[in-house]
Amino acid sequence: MNGEYILDVRSLCKAFGGLQATTEVNYKMGPGELSAIIGPNGAGKSTFFNLISGFHRPDKGQVFFKGVNITSWSSHRIARFGMSRAFQVSNIYLKLTTYQNVRQAILVQQKRTLDLFRRAEHMARQETSQLLEVTGLQEHRQEMAGTLSQGDKKRLELALALAIKPDLLLLDEPTAGMSVEETHATMDLVARLNREMGVTILFTEHDMPVVFGYARRLTVLHQGMLIADGAPQEVRADEEVQRVYLGEEV
Ligand SMILES: Nc1ncnc2c1ncn2[C@@H]1O[C@H](COP(=O)(O)OP(=O)(O)OP(=O)(O)O)[C@@H](O)[C@H]1O
Ligand SMILES: [Mg+2]
Repeated sequence: MNGEYILDVRSLCKAFGGLQATTEVNYKMGPGELSAIIGPNGAGKSTFFNLISGFHRPDKGQVFFKGVNITSWSSHRIARFGMSRAFQVSNIYLKLTTYQNVRQAILVQQKRTLDLFRRAEHMARQETSQLLEVTGLQEHRQEMAGTLSQGDKKRLELALALAIKPDLLLLDEPTAGMSVEETHATMDLVARLNREMGVTILFTEHDMPVVFGYARRLTVLHQGMLIADGAPQEVRADEEVQRVYLGEEV
């Protein structure tokens, strides 16, 4: 990798009409981090993800990923270059089985690198099983994706995001709508992907116990601005952060 940062965001700005959704955000991530971005509703967390992954064009500023300026790249090109987003439900083919969904994602990825490799299909089979194993979906491999529980659908989204072998994984509210058990199972999996597969992970989350249970670094956005960044306990003690959350338990 070029440079010491996997992600280096400089002076990022984005307005929707008169609303400034992102204002001069500077954010750097080293390889191997497991970090969270938090902030009240409408703080600009999803917009930030959309900007760095090429779904929105910034008005100003730059995004460097693995040392390369990707600011004007399309979302597809950024994904192929190793930045993956999970939990857009639209990624799942509801009428295919869990196994077929994951295998399809792997084949799409291999077509890029293994065009002339005749055993690609066979390889995909092994890799598919491996990903199903990692994400705990083996027992559901023959079920239609549309009939999976909310938690298993999210795990499938994760498996699809991993099929491109990302260096950086962006998770926007990975546990939204999950039971407490599903939340912990999913976040344990996220932590394991970070620890064992070396994937750098950035997630947003509203549930504070989840944030403090899993993130090793916290960044707070408020009205499009980055107001705090650091170790979770430091950020928790920050006066401005306390004010923004208006006495909520941070
Ligand atoms: N495509 C868009 N067009 C117009 N306004 C938008 C668009 N996307 C986001 N916004 C506005 O930008 C602001 C930031 O929204 P964003 O979705 O990034 O917040 P968020 O921090 O992800 O909130 P939440 O916690 O509710 O998911 C909000 O005021 C939102 O209404
Ligand atoms: Mg959001």
